[in-house]
Amino acid sequence: MDVTVVEHPLAQHLLLALRDTGTEPSRFRAITKRLTVVLMLEAARDLPTHSASVDTPLGRAEGMLLDKPIVTVPILRAGLGMLDAVVDLFPSVRVGYLGLRRDEATFRPSEYYVNLPRMEDAYTFVLDPMLATGGSASAAVEQIKAAGAPWIRMVAVVAAPEGVEKLHSSHPDVGIYTAAVDDGLDANAYIVPGLGDFGDRLFGTEP
Ligand code: PRP
Ligand code: URA
Repeated sequence: MDVTVVEHPLAQHLLLALRDTGTEPSRFRAITKRLTVVLMLEAARDLPTHSASVDTPLGRAEGMLLDKPIVTVPILRAGLGMLDAVVDLFPSVRVGYLGLRRDEATFRPSEYYVNLPRMEDAYTFVLDPMLATGGSASAAVEQIKAAGAPWIRMVAVVAAPEGVEKLHSSHPDVGIYTAAVDDGLDANAYIVPGLGDFGDRLFGTEP
């Protein structure tokens, strides 16, 4: 499987708190943001850079600059919980939005909102916490590629093996970064053990 599981102890510590049924929405939101920082640092670890130099008060210093701008596309709704972390890390990031809703009977995604920035010249990170069947992520990447993005990575909090397989087979060029690959999916295509419905837990909309 073409997936990077971020084993950093802080990522694993935060993931367990997210899984915990007792974690209420305000804490769930805060932990999602902190975990996304750790995931993004790993997903951005090998971004291409070029040499540059600046004047310090005491002389000339060599360093690195990122080769290209950063774009991020959170998948609505749940991906919004990951957005602030990316904006904090990359303040000049361009943000696109993609609204996808998974049909509860067929588990297929339907699109209800698209607003994507220029991506031809950028590194694009797609944010969606749950990679379950992989239908939403694959549709999102399809749309983002059609809009011109040449370089895409998928950042998820939890993935199911089925979702990794689906995204990898439809888009083998897209690297997947996640804190865990869980056991599988239940009859309702929820990730097991997972953490439940991410969007509902993030926004306090649990029935
Ligand atoms: C969730 C999640 C993903 C999708 C994953 O969103 O955030 O987008 O399901 O499932 P898949 O891999 O089987 O496609 P949902 O459709 O529940 O919408 P929400 O974010 O508005 O809650
Ligand atoms: N969407 C979620 O929010 N959770 C899952 O386990 C699967 C899809």
